[in-house]
Amino acid sequence: MSATPPAALDLQDVSCTFVSAEAPGQRYTAVREVTLQVAAGEFVSVVGPTGCGKSTLLNMAAGLLVPSTGSVRVFGQPLSGINRRAGYMFQAESLMPWRTAEQNVRAGLEFRGAADAPAQAQDWLRRVGLGAFGDRYPHQLSGGMRKRASLAQTLALDPDIILMDEPFSALDIQTRQLMENEVLALWQGAGGRARKAVLFITHDLDEAIAMSDRVVVLSAGPASHPIGEFHIDLARPRDVAEIKTSPRFIELHSAIWAVLRDEVQKGYAQQLQRR
Ligand SMILES: Nc1ncnc2c1ncn2[C@@H]1O[C@H](COP(=O)(O)OP(=O)(O)O)[C@@H](O)[C@H]1O
Ligand SMILES: [Mg+2]
Repeated sequence: MSATPPAALDLQDVSCTFVSAEAPGQRYTAVREVTLQVAAGEFVSVVGPTGCGKSTLLNMAAGLLVPSTGSVRVFGQPLSGINRRAGYMFQAESLMPWRTAEQNVRAGLEFRGAADAPAQAQDWLRRVGLGAFGDRYPHQLSGGMRKRASLAQTLALDPDIILMDEPFSALDIQTRQLMENEVLALWQGAGGRARKAVLFITHDLDEAIAMSDRVVVLSAGPASHPIGEFHIDLARPRDVAEIKTSPRFIELHSAIWAVLRDEVQKGYAQQLQRR
């Protein structure tokens, strides 16, 4: 009998309470007792209203934020410090403006001591469609191309877990769909390598459904926690634009939206109140 392999990411009853910088007596519990697992090779999205605690959860998984209570395990090992099995992609730009695209992708590889960093960097740029743009500086690339370069930067380090926090929300819809398809193709193809575990944060339900194996819905804060979990049984490979018209997608969307709708309204009302 073989034991079940440990989850790539295992958050057990994690809570996060912030202390106000202006008034140290004031506390705000962003997320409370959240249990969330991502299996090796699984693509999980977390959706929830703005300000509910999605980034807080991701930062705890990244080891950038220590949970106030609860534990984080990475492939069965308790996480302490930065999660070195994970690569990140955040909403903000991650490229160093004084380095070319190729130098940006190469930097992380060199830091790791990879002997063939230039060749690997070039190969990753090619895979994300930037083979001819390695010598361009970030300001000479479009927003979508900069995201491609960031993607190459993240994937080149070959992490077992990818953490993405609304990575494409600043892109126009067409570029965004291209990027989403690109991510799915790279994740699925993986060039003979094992598929990576992905924790994908978004406030966009369409994006979450189109991309994922599983969608977890978070309640509005404070003390946000999962209030719904949905298995996305849509066939792969998927085209994120086309799949939105399939009857099953529409069915899943309305089931999840039924849970999410009230939270979005609560979250919005909260934003209008000052704490
Ligand atoms: N460092 C911090 N100090 C105090 N409050 C914070 C801090 N980081 C986040 N928060 C608060 O925690 C809540 C959740 O934030 P966040 O995880 O960024 O939400 P989301 O990513 O879902 O939009 C918000 O109300 C936010 O204001
Ligand atoms: Mg966020």
